[in-house]
Amino acid sequence: MDRTFSKLTVEIPAGPENSSHTYPIFTGQDILSTIGPVASEYHIPEHVIIITDATVEKLYASHVQAALLNYGFRPDIITIPSGEANKTPETVRFVYDKMHQLGCGRDTALVAVGGGIVGDLAGYVAATYRRGIPFIQVPTTLLAQVDSSVGGKVGVNLPYGKNLIGAFYQPRFVFIDTKTLTTLPARELKSGLAEVVKYGAILDRELLSLLTNTIDDLLKPDVSRFPEIIERCCALKSSVVEKDERESGYREILNFGHTIGHAIEACTNYSLLTHGEAITYGMMVETHLSVNHCGLPADDARAVCSLLLRLSPPPLPEPVDVDQLYQTMYSDKKVRAGVLRFSLINKVGDATFGETPDEHYVKQSMRKVFTTGEDECVY
Ligand code: NAD
Ligand code: GLY
Repeated sequence: MDRTFSKLTVEIPAGPENSSHTYPIFTGQDILSTIGPVASEYHIPEHVIIITDATVEKLYASHVQAALLNYGFRPDIITIPSGEANKTPETVRFVYDKMHQLGCGRDTALVAVGGGIVGDLAGYVAATYRRGIPFIQVPTTLLAQVDSSVGGKVGVNLPYGKNLIGAFYQPRFVFIDTKTLTTLPARELKSGLAEVVKYGAILDRELLSLLTNTIDDLLKPDVSRFPEIIERCCALKSSVVEKDERESGYREILNFGHTIGHAIEACTNYSLLTHGEAITYGMMVETHLSVNHCGLPADDARAVCSLLLRLSPPPLPEPVDVDQLYQTMYSDKKVRAGVLRFSLINKVGDATFGETPDEHYVKQSMRKVFTTGEDECVY
């Protein structure tokens, strides 16, 4: 078994609203059983709570528990139900209560073992329990490995909007075992690929070309190509977060496709589509909008949309209520002074934020994408 891992350091400088944070992202194949010495090196307290969901508990959480136990930690497991519909304040309360029963104090650490839902929720618990306790991310979905485990955004949903309750709370370290992807269902792999396409579209033309050339292989069950992609995405995300941890501007580019994607999730009760599928639709619409509003070249729009089509998100309920979606977007966190703001692309690899296209154009792009056939590119 190969126990070597790569290390990327996230270095967030102090800013007007934040103190400095430096932490490593370790990536490797089959490394879960080596988490003990790393946790020890990063001064994790002896009592550890592993937060996981029902699926990942059986697959990996007990493995992490054994690895920590072997190294002298006292790990307990708290399991939350799977699914976006459970990323709620009620589940946070459930975890607080369990932690209280388990005698957790400020000298307890949380380890999130799971996808983005576990990571976001556990991170929020860590940020708030006794005013903050140490936190480790062990992401097990592609989406969490390329995106949600890095950058410190933690939080939960409200019925009327995504991630409306939350904090910026950085982990002590991120521990990515790419072997966990071997058990990930194809649908979840595609959801993660949506965020990878996002990085290509907003920051990295070469990555988008790589995806275009290898998408057939990436959609196969063989996940051997992913470590390289994960490290590249983590580096891209870190470079953005290092410049603007608190999303006072530039970090908004990471929300390309998300203004519409989050509204789709809220309008379908967080239960029809995965987050990755919702933002796949969101990026299709916002790519169309980028052509009209930012002069995105048609060839670039075609390159992004062709990739997104290959991710084949499930159909939306017909007919799509464009007016309701538009209204729901006003719950988006980027709204300022009652004005909707979008993160769009000028060309592949060059994103812009704080764009305020007219309502007419936003609805026109939604109608165009939602009425175009499932396999047709709108360009
Ligand atoms: P998820 O956490 O629901 O995981 C998807 C499913 O895969 C779950 O059913 C889970 O049990 C299962 N699973 C996880 N790992 C597995 C494995 N290795 N093998 C088999 N099954 C496994 O969903 P997700 O796509 O990982 O995360 C989506 C969430 O991430 C959304 O709530 C989204 O808002 C959030 N997000 C946050 C950020 C951020 O910066 N904090 C960024 C992007 C997305
Ligand atoms: N996924 C958006 C962000 O981390 O800012």
